[in-house]
Amino acid sequence: MPEGHPSSIIRRLPPSEATNRWTGGARHGLPKAYRPADLVVMGVGVMIGAGIFSLAGRQAATMAGPGVVLSFMIAGITSLLVAFCFAELSSALPSSGSAYTFAYVIFGEVWAWAVGWALVMELLLASAVVSRVWSLYASQLLTDLGVRLPAPLAAITGQAEGFDLFTLFILVILTAVVTLGARIGLRALRIIVVAKLLAIGAVIVVGAMHFDQRNLSAIPVPATPAESTAGTLDSPLLGILFGQTGAFGWFGIFAASAVITFAYIGFDVVATAAEESEDASGSVPKGIIRSLVVTTVIYIAVALVMVGMTSYEKINSEAPLANAFREAGEGFMVHIINLGAVLGLTTVVLVLLVGLTRVMFSMARDGLVPSRLARINKRYRSPTRVTLLIGVLAILLAEFVPVLTLEPLVVIGTLFVFVSVAAGVLRMRQTMPDLPRGFRVPLSPVVPIASIVACLWLLVNLQVVTWLYFIAWMALGVLVYLLYGRRNSALAAGEQPVDPLAPGLRGRHRR
Ligand code: ALA
Repeated sequence: MPEGHPSSIIRRLPPSEATNRWTGGARHGLPKAYRPADLVVMGVGVMIGAGIFSLAGRQAATMAGPGVVLSFMIAGITSLLVAFCFAELSSALPSSGSAYTFAYVIFGEVWAWAVGWALVMELLLASAVVSRVWSLYASQLLTDLGVRLPAPLAAITGQAEGFDLFTLFILVILTAVVTLGARIGLRALRIIVVAKLLAIGAVIVVGAMHFDQRNLSAIPVPATPAESTAGTLDSPLLGILFGQTGAFGWFGIFAASAVITFAYIGFDVVATAAEESEDASGSVPKGIIRSLVVTTVIYIAVALVMVGMTSYEKINSEAPLANAFREAGEGFMVHIINLGAVLGLTTVVLVLLVGLTRVMFSMARDGLVPSRLARINKRYRSPTRVTLLIGVLAILLAEFVPVLTLEPLVVIGTLFVFVSVAAGVLRMRQTMPDLPRGFRVPLSPVVPIASIVACLWLLVNLQVVTWLYFIAWMALGVLVYLLYGRRNSALAAGEQPVDPLAPGLRGRHRR
């Protein structure tokens, strides 16, 4: 039973309430859906996507040159450090709220809200970004296959900005799949992830045949001062704090690492499946770490192939992989890449949407967003209301905001959450040393502290403008909390959490 506290500043969720909240004489939680292997599939399904199919080439061409391989290593090592921290906390608190719920138990409601609010931005924006990239690849695939859409439709498909039909299509379909429940999506997920891995395997094997070492030795050092951005909002925060930075050289490699963190987003989403996983305290840590290791190896191999096949100066930042193969005379591979991207990006958006529904479901179950959203549909055994809401929000965001420039905003939200999780490991070791953990971070406190330092380093390598957007988003979050969550929290004034299944409870918490 929750021990509520009147002050929102210090009230915390008891660990026993992190999963399957006790409401009105019954537990309110999600049914089990995932076996241990599913979590690895899920992690690979959500991680490998726009980061490698789109972002890698852009960063190689404009920021890091062939050094983009190092950028993938830096972001990968940082993610691995953080993944250990996620693994420990999700083994102790296997909740669909993931980092949000960890923060609620460890640091209290106010910090939990901040983490949840950042997670909502991360996952919603990432879904919008990746569905846009999906549309670009899907229309390219049709064009390459000789399919011609009627002119009025062609004008609204495969667009980087403005209304886009394919973006709408993919988001509507995937929202419907998530609404129908985790199991249906899971079957499709397994098949598509295998197809995606086969396509990427072909990229690595065929690409290796065209590898030319001379392309790698062209690492442009020292840094080229980025004249156009120096001292502006587009320069990294590091540049403002410590003076000149620039494109290429080590500064460029670090700046690219920060943005490339986008490619690793997803291992954290695996943690949101904890409540629905069999043997969560053992399977979730393994799922997180194994999927991340597989993804990191694949990324480094693909990045190496990409910059080894062609000089970084010739990398086409719109369709880097496809273009490198086209130039190498491997026209067939272009179709494989387009098809692999269309399939691969589908699973990314699918799992991002699932993860976001789980986080918001948890926030609703705790009363910090309207508790009606936590209602579980009896027929589909999934939180359909929150899923539909998220689908609509993702569509609005993807259609009406130029999201393809906002990947760094996704990253800043993610790194903020990562820092909170790593700090949570340190704090929980002190405050709840005896709480059973299925996994313990090795070499603690070294690994959690190294995680925090690495994330902070990547954070200062993000642009000033990204920081300003993030501060504005978090300020809006504080306002929403003060106006709604603080008063409606299920823990407010020691009340029981609301039972979203019980009729007539609407607004009961309101004071
Ligand atoms: N990591 C995911 C991607 O790169 C979000 O698409």
